[in-house]
Amino acid sequence: MSIKIIGTGSALPVKQVANGELTKLVDTSDEWIRERTGIRSRHISTGETVASLATQACQKALQNAGKEAAEVELLMVATCSPELALPCTACQVQDKLGAVHAVSFDLNAACAGFLFALHTAYAYIASGIYRNALIAGAEVLSKIIDWADRSTCILFGDGAGAVMVERCDEGGILGFVQCSDGSRGRVLSCGSRPLNNPYASQTDFETYVQMDGREVFSFAVRQVPASIEEVLEKTGLTVEDVDLFVLHQANRRIIDGICKRLKADPDRFPVNLDRVGNMSSAAIPVLLDELNAQGRLSAGMTLVLSGFGAGLTYGACVIKW
Ligand code: COA
Repeated sequence: MSIKIIGTGSALPVKQVANGELTKLVDTSDEWIRERTGIRSRHISTGETVASLATQACQKALQNAGKEAAEVELLMVATCSPELALPCTACQVQDKLGAVHAVSFDLNAACAGFLFALHTAYAYIASGIYRNALIAGAEVLSKIIDWADRSTCILFGDGAGAVMVERCDEGGILGFVQCSDGSRGRVLSCGSRPLNNPYASQTDFETYVQMDGREVFSFAVRQVPASIEEVLEKTGLTVEDVDLFVLHQANRRIIDGICKRLKADPDRFPVNLDRVGNMSSAAIPVLLDELNAQGRLSAGMTLVLSGFGAGLTYGACVIKW
């Protein structure tokens, strides 16, 4: 028994911001951004919200799966940039979709959030609690980015992706690994709200993304290949058996570094970060939806999905499509 993806969808804000536009905001250049990250452009919200983007992506995933909203039993939104502390984004999406029977909640594991939500759906469905799940990864990171900080504002983009999954007897998720290392949380962090009550208040409080880029980089190129090797070993497969490695889209150099460590063929690492930047939890489902729409996913293919980010959190799963 496992779960398989039966539909995908995605939604991006209308406004595209090319590197050249960022040179008007901070001391940077198109060349520096392209060489260090591979990013050329990203979509930035001019009003779209995490909830509205997630709703659109979910509607498309439902349509692609041939399912009605009322059939959904579990609805999860992976996000680290919700508009509201309460109610959670998933409940807002449930309402907009009319997914009246779906138990709905958010999950925050930053850039590994979508993957962790997929594994959570697996656990619920494998244990017989639910039969299907709708899972979105959605972010409007542009509201938690300091647009005066050239080391972070060039990296991120806004968007949402979603998948519909259901129970299956053959194929689907063959195995997964997931890890967290809270001791290294400081290398990529963002404050939410400062403590401010009649008895205490915080002063030096940072509400924008703070990052030690080099630390994050070396974490990703070391831990991610190790977790991919671990999940392949667990499922009795090798790097050569994998048709596509659908990795979190953080940085072209990170993807190249992972590919090199795995001694894999670069053609098996699809990339869209040049057009969308790093969309955190939305990255993997948006890329999956693009591959699906392009007809690049066919029955029986072996995929590795791998996410990594703040927490630190990271993990990977093997899917027989
Ligand atoms: N434009 C021009 N110069 C920039 C710049 C920008 N946007 N951002 C930083 N710089 C400068 C720095 O100030 C520094 O200048 P200095 O040498 O005069 O001090 C120089 O470029 C090198 O900075 P450094 O941070 O060492 O660059 P780097 O090669 O490590 O590249 C990142 C920076 C952020 C691109 C890289 O560390 C990275 O990709 N890290 C991973 C980030 C990531 O993916 N995070 C999300 C994970 S989910």
